[in-house]
Amino acid sequence: MKKIYITTPLYYVNAFPHIGHAYTQIICDAITRFKKQAGYDTFFMTGTDEHGEKIEKAAMEAGFKNGDEKNFVDTIVPRFKKTWEKLDIEYDYFMRTTDEAHENTVREVLRILYEKGKIYKKVYKGWFCTPCEAFWSESQASDNLCPDCKRNLERLDEENYFFKISEYQDTLKKHIKDNPSFILPEIRRNEVLGFLDNNRLQDLCISRPKSRMSWGIELPFDKNFVTYVWFDALINYISGAGFLGDRKKFDELWPADSHVIGKDILRHHAVYWPIMLMAIGVALPKHILTHGWWVIAGEKMSKSKGNIVDPITMIDKYGVDAFRYFLLSAVEFGYDGTFSEELFIEKYNADLANDLGNLVNRTLTMMEKYFGGVVPALPDTAYEEKDMKSDAEGMQVQLATVFAEGNSQATLGIIWEKWVKKANKYIEESAPWKLAKENDKKLKEVMYNLIQILALVALFLYPFMPKTSRNIWKQLGMESDISGIRFSDDSEKSISARGRVPAWGLVPAGAKISKSNPLFPRIISK
Ligand code: MSP
Repeated sequence: MKKIYITTPLYYVNAFPHIGHAYTQIICDAITRFKKQAGYDTFFMTGTDEHGEKIEKAAMEAGFKNGDEKNFVDTIVPRFKKTWEKLDIEYDYFMRTTDEAHENTVREVLRILYEKGKIYKKVYKGWFCTPCEAFWSESQASDNLCPDCKRNLERLDEENYFFKISEYQDTLKKHIKDNPSFILPEIRRNEVLGFLDNNRLQDLCISRPKSRMSWGIELPFDKNFVTYVWFDALINYISGAGFLGDRKKFDELWPADSHVIGKDILRHHAVYWPIMLMAIGVALPKHILTHGWWVIAGEKMSKSKGNIVDPITMIDKYGVDAFRYFLLSAVEFGYDGTFSEELFIEKYNADLANDLGNLVNRTLTMMEKYFGGVVPALPDTAYEEKDMKSDAEGMQVQLATVFAEGNSQATLGIIWEKWVKKANKYIEESAPWKLAKENDKKLKEVMYNLIQILALVALFLYPFMPKTSRNIWKQLGMESDISGIRFSDDSEKSISARGRVPAWGLVPAGAKISKSNPLFPRIISK
């Protein structure tokens, strides 16, 4: 059976990961967990981009000698792995562009394209931006500044190998037009279509003379050149999926379901990569999900701007799920978001301490107080919280529809409005403390409902905040592992038919609550 194959970009190892990188990881992690929960088999791949000029330069700056770059990158990669571990990123495979299997695939792809006549040699005159690893023509860079990052360009006048991309322009345009969900969200799709409408594609320079830069994969047909870092890196999506090495794996994984990327690398993924695949003769990925940037005081967070925030610092200070929640909920997917600790604290206090934390804490406190922590049986005469019960039935499908385009903000918004906030309102309106005082038998029913609501909240939150959801599940006295619960498949752990959750009753009567410390204590800012 085809697996859902999700990828992140491969991160450059010239610096440690920051919040921008963390965001892509968290989105991919949430998508993968969401798909698993819905009953699909998944494969989530991430990794590092280790060749090229930028990395070579960083290696030299760190005191490594030419030819010793691999030892430099080996010092950086563990930091990426450690950060992903702290962020609770459950990937299946970590790909490095220095892996032998990947390098072999790149050489083989180059050979295939060269033999097909898609790669040729000519003198290149133009401009190059080292930080962006991008070529610019005379007309694109009239002021000698990179049109993207506005830094100084380097003049190039040398022989190089070129990949014929110009001949695929119309086919690509047609593919994008015929497949509206190929590039998401729509503003990014329009951006690519606008680019293809207004520019004639120039063949892509895919090599570097070793005399100038040798840290890369040697061309199989000319040992004086190495391949361009982007040509090398993009191939990871198929090499990591077993292309040319493991046919069975490749058939299970390809085409990828979603390449998740940031908007600055849209053209590489939505123009160069599809054309490479067309030239090789491989199907195109299904979706390219493009997010915006995390911005600090109006500037993109990046190493060169010196304004980076280390995800590990945030996790150590506020906890992993609070950090995941902020990134996933504070910005609409596809658009830029502002990061600041003040905004973080504001959102933490409102959504996590007040709404979610409070809901869990007061429900469980009342359970202990009124029922000694044992979930009561629903009385025969029970009135049911009809709205929420019927909402529960269609909820997974509704969330899946919204989250299909990566919009975690809207997805979490639904969970909050329809569940977390509504449940708090239910507590206010039904006032269990009054019912207890009056010895009203409705108390049993209200508390029973609240417990079922909490179980569903834990399940719905699992892809986004796995630790918190596990914690709530456990406090409800549930013994199963929440990560193994499927909304729909044939296994024993499945809790219903595809996309439907039994509304009430996940936590059986008699379950013993084990309340622990409040989930998200309020942060008092100085
Ligand atoms: N190595 C290439 C990708 C090759 S994929 C075949 C690269 N690496 S990167 O480390 O510079 O960027 C990796 C990802 O991080 C990109 O998707 C980029 O958009 C994202 N981000 C880098 N800074 C960012 C922000 N400030 N905010 C959000 N994401 C940003 O490009």
